[in-house]
Amino acid sequence: MKAPIGIGLIGSGRAGRIHARNFAGRISGAQLVAVSDPAPDAAKTTAEEFGVDASYEHYEPLLENGAVDAVVVATPTNFHRDIVVAAAARGKHIFCEKPMALTVEECREMNEAVAAAGVKFQIGFMRRFDKSFREAKEAIDDGVIGDVVLVKSLTHGPSTPQRWMYDVAASNGPLAEVSSHDIDTLRWFTGGEVVETYAIAGNYRCPDAREEFPDFYDNVVMTTRLSNGLQGVIEGAVSVGYGYDARVEILGTKGVLFVGSLNESRVSYCTVDRGVGATAVKSWRTLFIDAYEHEGQSFVDAIAGDSETMVGGIDGLRAVQIVNAGNESIGSRAPVAIDIN
Ligand SMILES: NC(=O)c1ccc[n+]([C@@H]2O[C@H](COP(=O)([O-])OP(=O)(O)OC[C@H]3O[C@@H](n4cnc5c(N)ncnc54)[C@H](O)[C@@H]3O)[C@@H](O)[C@H]2O)c1
Repeated sequence: MKAPIGIGLIGSGRAGRIHARNFAGRISGAQLVAVSDPAPDAAKTTAEEFGVDASYEHYEPLLENGAVDAVVVATPTNFHRDIVVAAAARGKHIFCEKPMALTVEECREMNEAVAAAGVKFQIGFMRRFDKSFREAKEAIDDGVIGDVVLVKSLTHGPSTPQRWMYDVAASNGPLAEVSSHDIDTLRWFTGGEVVETYAIAGNYRCPDAREEFPDFYDNVVMTTRLSNGLQGVIEGAVSVGYGYDARVEILGTKGVLFVGSLNESRVSYCTVDRGVGATAVKSWRTLFIDAYEHEGQSFVDAIAGDSETMVGGIDGLRAVQIVNAGNESIGSRAPVAIDIN
């Protein structure tokens, strides 16, 4: 029997801990063998929780660890480029959380490093591994709604952003952190590339950011024209409070398709006091819990079978390019063309 692929986790925060849980026991053919995180006790705590011996503050010794065949990069986005380039240079296969990086130039550098090393590279667009999203994609490909005309994708997150996200120049803002997923879905469902976008944005729910970060927006709407003539609309919001809301509507020439629901369960109720009620989805952690596991399994299968990953560096790069065009459009109040050549 083949030895399991050794996984090193770099960054053990919110996303990293989901991957730790999956690679520590739920994904076949892989084993979590090391964790690194510079925050006090973070790596040690995660390593202990998931039965891992090796924990480090810095990612360099993790990359030197011979038991690590592949890394999962789940640090804040501004570290992705340096870590991915360093991991590729050590011949490690790489799973990198979205957004791939902050600039297209960084993405190019990462893709070149990965290609030169001949390692596998996957970006964390886990909606491509979600059961409902996959069913929708299959229905689209089977022509169930005729030819696709318009994809409308929205994500609303419940929580107020961490302070670093308020600085849009440093974080690329909610378009990057939240709407990257919708952007990837748009490309996936239309089969086209975004060639033009116009975006408007504003800050409606985060008054504490207004003075120091006047560019910060908590609500954004982005219209897009695709290379194959199709249309796309993306709507993103943070700090909505009511729950985690991820829904897509796809309009075709012969019908319409809806993906996702705000309802956490299939149970709803009606009471004398409150009328009709249901429980809202609270977090991406629960909504996409299976998708995170499936994306991890797909990554490991690509390594074991020496096949292409299902979401690669070009998908990551395109999403970053569209995010940046959207932010430019918000600033200039004008449509922005995107060069896809
Ligand atoms: N796919 C998804 O649905 C999803 C969900 C959440 C976050 N993310 C992405 O995952 C990444 C991390 O986000 P998060 O919400 O988990 O952030 P977080 O702040 O909760 O965790 C980040 C962790 O990385 C650590 N870290 C910082 N620098 C490091 C370094 N040089 N080496 C190792 N660890 C380092 C921090 O100490 C922290 O523990 C971001 O790119 C984010 O966009 C993706």
